[in-house]
Amino acid sequence: MSTLISRERWNVEASEIARNTHNPIRSIIESLVVEPNPAKSVIALSIGDPTTFGNLKPPKEAIDAVQESLLSQSYNGYAPSTGYQMAKEAVADYSSSEFVDVDPKDVILCSGCSCALDLCITALARRDQNILIPRPGFSIYRTLAEGLGITVKSYELRPEFGWEIDLNDLESQIDESTAAIIINNPSNPCGSVFSRNHTLDILDVAARYYVPIIADEIYEHMVFPGRTFHSLASLSNEVPILSCSGLTKRFLVPGWRMGWIIIHDRQNILNKENHSKVAYNCITKVPGLKPIMPDGAMYMMVHIDLSCFPEFNSDLEFVQRLLMEESVFCLPGQCFDYPSYMRLVITVPTDMLEEACQRIREFCERHHYKTAEHTRRNSFFDGEISC
Ligand SMILES: Cc1ncc(COP(=O)(O)O)c(C=O)c1O
Repeated sequence: MSTLISRERWNVEASEIARNTHNPIRSIIESLVVEPNPAKSVIALSIGDPTTFGNLKPPKEAIDAVQESLLSQSYNGYAPSTGYQMAKEAVADYSSSEFVDVDPKDVILCSGCSCALDLCITALARRDQNILIPRPGFSIYRTLAEGLGITVKSYELRPEFGWEIDLNDLESQIDESTAAIIINNPSNPCGSVFSRNHTLDILDVAARYYVPIIADEIYEHMVFPGRTFHSLASLSNEVPILSCSGLTKRFLVPGWRMGWIIIHDRQNILNKENHSKVAYNCITKVPGLKPIMPDGAMYMMVHIDLSCFPEFNSDLEFVQRLLMEESVFCLPGQCFDYPSYMRLVITVPTDMLEEACQRIREFCERHHYKTAEHTRRNSFFDGEISC
């Protein structure tokens, strides 16, 4: 019996996430105590499920496709975590237009648009950060974010201007801790569709403050005659946009739980973390160096084991020779009061970063006392050597 545990009775408490998660629609509806007039039949204009009354049917093509897939018995196993390649290609094709060319690798399949939003919020915002959401707006944004301990700030829509965003208000809500702006267009609950100019103005705000956008565009194909929907991604090359959509509304199949995220990040802004992985994975194999994986900012510190490099007395001498021989310029740890390290900036383009890491590796293999000896003896370097 463990002596480290002092529990003497059951005491299972709800987690912080569970305590912080509230669904305002459910709370309000469930607290309604009024009974409808028994003399009249109930007409529910409350539920956003287009299948409730059976007047709108899913297209036969969609039903046939799912039926065929089930009968084929080919898809009963676990699917890849971001979806089958064939399905991602179909979504990419469906979502491409003359203005946006979606690559299947940028598609992530999810369990409905709600799951897509959940993943986007979780991916972009931390506990101490905030996200901006529209008011009036769909309640799930608040429910998801507050559950995760992320602060939610509302920006106002203007009913007298077709529910356009009050851009001054939006701008005034942005602060250092703003991780993302959620834009819902066409809108639930407003039913508004933003004009091209208004969409451009929204993108301008996001670009000026360097805030990525989560675009909830689940109603993208439900636009009335005379109006045109302009997706945010179709009008920007600069702002990173995660657009969320799915089959739910247009194909009238909310129960199928089929949604997706499309990552529009032409400047590779959201990929910085991958950059750190590129640098880390390469440097970690270099004899005599030990990178420390960063979690943010733009840098990676790398420890230089100087006992492996007898020609150099300090990190400064190491980086000087690296610059002389390989034209790779890193700052010595001394600059940060931390000798025996060097600092790499990892925000350069990926191909440049890979090339730099490769050159650092060759430099170290040349100067490392063990591999230098190997080379002299013309023997084979197996890449496993550490000082
Ligand atoms: C604006 C908006 N986003 C997302 C969703 C959720 O979509 P799904 O049912 O695919 O999760 C809804 C559902 O009503 C919605 O109105």
